[in-house]
Amino acid sequence: MSLSHHSPSSDITLRINGTSHSLTIDNRTTLLDVLRERLGLTGTKKGCDHGQCGACTVLVDGERVNSCLMFAVTAEEREIVSIEGVAALSDGGELHPVQRAFLDHDGLQCGYCTPGQICSAIGALGEAGRGWPSHVTEDTATGVADVSALDAREVRERMSGNLCRCGAYNGIVEAVLEAAGARGAQDTATVGGAR
Ligand code: FES
Ligand code: FES
Repeated sequence: MSLSHHSPSSDITLRINGTSHSLTIDNRTTLLDVLRERLGLTGTKKGCDHGQCGACTVLVDGERVNSCLMFAVTAEEREIVSIEGVAALSDGGELHPVQRAFLDHDGLQCGYCTPGQICSAIGALGEAGRGWPSHVTEDTATGVADVSALDAREVRERMSGNLCRCGAYNGIVEAVLEAAGARGAQDTATVGGAR
């Protein structure tokens, strides 16, 4: 019996922020490392590299994903959007409404977690828009009627995978509530404390 040698590398094409990138990569390379190290898209941050902080969150086919946990080879033929591309998701504005809301509500201090927070918020609002319940949704069978029905508790739960070492949580919650079009965003954002 002879052992055959298989190359650990693959030729892949990734579609990122509307542009195709052809690359030869080690099969073990994460999407996060391709974005940052190969393509210079350093907006996506590496915090823990273990799926625990959310700093590396990007959108893949519209769903939020921890890019440190995704092998780049599995992202072929999928539509990847990093923080550099989120503005283009909106209707011609310079900023995505979630980005605007983060600025308006001081949802950042050092900004390290912000790209992941913003991608995560866009994904979370999409999930709520499809009616997906969270752990704290009153009736998980019915789900959420509308994103504008989200309250601060829901936003905190849905964003709980994104950590902020600066403690900008109150501003982040207000920003996400405003982007959701939720009523009483100012009044409810501080209920429940930071997570
Ligand atoms: S760097 Fe990916 S979750 Fe922390
Ligand atoms: S703003 Fe500094 S880590 Fe969140």
